Amino acid sequence: MASNRTLTMIKPNAVARGLIGEILEKITNSGFKIIALKMTQLTLNDAKKFYAVHEGKPFYEDLYVFMSSAPIVVAILEKENAVEDFRTLLGNTDPTKAKEGTLRKLFAESLSRNAVHGSDSDENARIESSFHFSRREQFS
Ligand code: CMP
Repeated sequence: MASNRTLTMIKPNAVARGLIGEILEKITNSGFKIIALKMTQLTLNDAKKFYAVHEGKPFYEDLYVFMSSAPIVVAILEKENAVEDFRTLLGNTDPTKAKEGTLRKLFAESLSRNAVHGSDSDENARIESSFHFSRREQFS
């Protein structure tokens, strides 16, 4: 059964460009309810752990260095079929291939600075949500 929650991060480049409000507005206007939210900065080790699934890939080091380089905004989103619907709203990981109107088409600068993250499976949504938020920081 499809889960109703996903985890998103507004990445350092998008936070630095002042896009937090605009991105959260597009997310909530698309039917997602924010049930947890914070601004934080990952340590290098946090970012390594969060993206451990990409360990060994050529972009891994750039990814964890970038993701820990400045503040991010993290949220848990609730909606029916949340993971899949949010990935549709995100658009392709590579912004040059993302459809018009998607968050990455609108806000990404490049594949590695693609503005917004979304969980890629229900299992990862649960793992990533508990990575960032304690139980009492999650509301629904
Ligand atoms: P994200 O959804 O946060 O998940 C992993 C990230 O790795 C992805 O977004 C991209 O920013 C980055 N990524 C994935 N593939 C590549 C690649 N081929 N080159 C550089 N960065 C990548």
